[in-house]
Amino acid sequence: MAGNTNLAYRRLCRRFGAELTTTEMVSSMALQFGDEKSLALLERGHDEYPVAAQVFGSEPSVLAQAARAVEARGFHVLDFNIGCPVPKITGCGGGSALLREPELAARCVRAMVAATSLPVTVKHRAGWDDASKNGPEFARRMQDAGAQAVTVHGRTREQKYTGCADLDLIARVVEAVDIPVIGNGDVTDVDSARRMLETGVRGIAIGRGALGQPWVFAQIRAFLEDRPIPEPPALAERASLLLELGAGVVDLYGERRGMLIMRRLAADFIRGVPGGAELRQDCNRFQSCADLERLAQRWTTASDRYSIGASSGA
Ligand SMILES: Cc1cc2nc3c(=O)[nH]c(=O)nc-3n(C[C@H](O)[C@H](O)[C@H](O)COP(=O)(O)O)c2cc1C
Repeated sequence: MAGNTNLAYRRLCRRFGAELTTTEMVSSMALQFGDEKSLALLERGHDEYPVAAQVFGSEPSVLAQAARAVEARGFHVLDFNIGCPVPKITGCGGGSALLREPELAARCVRAMVAATSLPVTVKHRAGWDDASKNGPEFARRMQDAGAQAVTVHGRTREQKYTGCADLDLIARVVEAVDIPVIGNGDVTDVDSARRMLETGVRGIAIGRGALGQPWVFAQIRAFLEDRPIPEPPALAERASLLLELGAGVVDLYGERRGMLIMRRLAADFIRGVPGGAELRQDCNRFQSCADLERLAQRWTTASDRYSIGASSGA
């Protein structure tokens, strides 16, 4: 997820049981120009296996070049974004705009498949809008173009992030293709994971549900393996996870940029924490690692006074 799933965050998710992690989406065009910020998004951990790099764009030859760059950087899967609803991306024909151009989308996939020996997968939405929910046919075209799996977010582009993911549509995609389908949208806990699995998908992709609670993977894994569902970590442990994340983000981006990223990531961690509203205001002022440490300290003190689930200002 753009702005969120940097290497440090992916490491945390993986430790809690995420089986496959994916980079933030990266512009294929920017990679062509050697843009440093985009290249930084392709930072991969040597301990990360398997990890996918996700690219977006709409120009087959540029995407082919991006596929080669991703392979050279040691990723294990190349994922193609046909889901992003943001006008800056769709306006250039990328992201979910390709849902309306299935022939061009197929050419993009074919170009990437030809350029790399990595498995190419596609992440797409249910359709552009309610009147054109072409998810199942679209997935079939991606399969025919050489995609080895599809991840389907059960919302249309028009919905952006409103309403609910359409699980019936995801079930129809499963029926329409022979390749694995990974279901995506609104999975935040064991119950929502169970509902998603009822569609027949082979895997679940979790986005927002992992923000601030990477342990959701441990809980869903336990459910899949028929083990008791672990409780979320205690507040003091969450604070130390946050500090570890902060250190990883600073390693990647330096203190100044790192703290800007941590303002958002820390606010997610604070969801449900007693006194969260006040702590969240502190997040918006992060300038340095010391600010992050102070927040974790206050949080740990709060954990002595409250238990999880106590009524809070969050
Ligand atoms: C801030 C933000 C950034 C996102 N960035 C990406 C991205 O880079 N690539 C992608 O495939 N999806 C991205 N998404 C979409 C999510 O991956 C996911 O498809 C969507 O939020 C629905 O699933 P969820 O309910 O599990 O979050 C992003 C979503 C949000 C809210």
